[in-house]
Amino acid sequence: MNRVAANYLDPYRSQEGSYGIGLDNKINPYLLKKDFPIFQEKVQGRDLIYLDNAATTQKPYPVIAAVEKYNQAFHGNPHRGAHYLSVKATELYDQARQKVQEFIKARSRKEIIFTRNTTESINLVAYSYGMNFIEENDEILLSIAEHHSNILPWQQVARSRRARLKYMYLDKDGRLSMDEVKRKISNKTKLVCLTQMSNVLGTIFPIKEIIDYAHERGALVLIDGAQGLPHLGVDVGELDADFYVFSAHKMLGPTGIGVLYARESLLEMMPPFQSGGDMIEYVTEDTASFAPLPEKFEAGTPNVEGAVGLAAAIDYLNNIGLDKIYQHEIDLTAYALEKMKGIPYLTLYGPLDLEDRGGIISFNVDKVHPHDLASIVDLDGIALRAGHHCAQPLLNFLQVGASCRISFYLYNTKDDVDKLLESLERARSWFVNGS
Ligand SMILES: Cc1ncc(COP(=O)(O)O)c(C=O)c1O
Repeated sequence: MNRVAANYLDPYRSQEGSYGIGLDNKINPYLLKKDFPIFQEKVQGRDLIYLDNAATTQKPYPVIAAVEKYNQAFHGNPHRGAHYLSVKATELYDQARQKVQEFIKARSRKEIIFTRNTTESINLVAYSYGMNFIEENDEILLSIAEHHSNILPWQQVARSRRARLKYMYLDKDGRLSMDEVKRKISNKTKLVCLTQMSNVLGTIFPIKEIIDYAHERGALVLIDGAQGLPHLGVDVGELDADFYVFSAHKMLGPTGIGVLYARESLLEMMPPFQSGGDMIEYVTEDTASFAPLPEKFEAGTPNVEGAVGLAAAIDYLNNIGLDKIYQHEIDLTAYALEKMKGIPYLTLYGPLDLEDRGGIISFNVDKVHPHDLASIVDLDGIALRAGHHCAQPLLNFLQVGASCRISFYLYNTKDDVDKLLESLERARSWFVNGS
């Protein structure tokens, strides 16, 4: 029996502690790492130090095994047949939807639409809601810290609908003040699109306060939870967001599956984004009526194995507890920031304290281009991100061409931080002193 299948029999490996929780009731990342087969691989002949979790996260055995098990034993085309495998695939797909609904505390399964990723979820809202309900002279308000996937679709909508795009800017610490929000939301604001956490600076935005303020003025709000949900979780009912989007691959799940949560009343009035099989009720030569929610927005054969993997990732995260995961990331961030602040050749971007911040740190090393730095530390088995992080407007606003970024998740350790800093020191010395 192969390694994955063997672990599937006992997917929640607990022989050395329950879900990697130590006796102090905190995450023990050294135990947790054993659940992630990638850490048994060597990178450049070294142990992998994975600090690119804001880009994508690694997968634990239970997620890998759940996808493998689905493909080995249950694969069929859901909603399309009466045979065992079709019924089984339908059942697993529906269960995954229910798991997501419970995880984000949506009121109804109808409010959970499976997509490919955050980008597709935002495009769905832009093309279905934006292109039909945003009108000339309406304003779409974004923060300057948005990922390109929460900017470009709105540029298209603004252009087509002759609406106006406006931006909220950050203060010198990388925070978004309510003063700025109140200055920018006007009676023309139709939609506010905002990330829960900046993928560059790690800043957590006051989304609840912003949503309440926007609603008082009649605007809807879309929250990009790609960076927020995997670390902070969400209660969409309490938050009162109109749209909330995220990707499975940033929360231990597979690539190719994401989610759009939207208020049922909005989804009811929005036209389908894509059309074809699986989203219809009745079709004639010239017309069609659409399936009820959520199928109305899920044209074509869905990504069942992705949904199964996402459900397994949610179970895994729930078993550890998001509160413990966030605390672990904050402990690591405090440790890293304290050390990094003392290194004279580092420039750090974003909040230097721990208030309203997550486990993402962007920085530059004096006299070394971020891309060169990323290639050099890669030789030490260290994965970090260099570039504009798909947030060019933010980098322009900060007047930074590119930066390096490290981002933590549940399996990172203080050793990872120490090894990174040693590697940075070697890289800088090599570039500046030639040795
Ligand atoms: C804040 C934010 N939004 C959206 C995205 C896009 O996610 P995806 O590529 O999974 O669609 C990312 C990815 O890095 C992100 O960090």
